[in-house]
Amino acid sequence: MPSPQQRSRLVEEALLARQRAYAPYSRYQVGAAVLTADGQIYVGCNVENAAYPATICAERVALTSAVANGQRDFVALAVATADGGTPCGICRQVMAELGPAMEVYLVNGQGQVVHSTTVKALLPDSFSAASLIAGTSGG
Ligand code: THU
Repeated sequence: MPSPQQRSRLVEEALLARQRAYAPYSRYQVGAAVLTADGQIYVGCNVENAAYPATICAERVALTSAVANGQRDFVALAVATADGGTPCGICRQVMAELGPAMEVYLVNGQGQVVHSTTVKALLPDSFSAASLIAGTSGG
């Protein structure tokens, strides 16, 4: 559980990251910030591409950056958009893989948390490592 101070910082960092979004095609700017168990924050923004499917979402940039920096234990994720928009399905799957116990704060452009939720609520009954093991044990 993040402290109120950690939560505020996470929201701030997501808002700042949103300003760095590279979104010349959609103009939909997204910032994300993930809090690790040791109190570090890693950020991401969406990075679009003229070949549209090469685009990567802010949430996955933040999470993969944290992993690349040696982090594996995630506590909370803040996602900032203009209106507190909800994460896409691919990002939910990546959240379930890397931070299944995370809290998720959806933040609007004014910095208000419009929805406070969890990865479990965003992606119930998710496909996971356990599904792979269960499905490959013969039969
Ligand atoms: N986007 C994100 O960064 N995160 C999401 O969860 C939803 C979508 C980005 C991808 C693309 O750059 C733009 O928002 C419009 O889809």
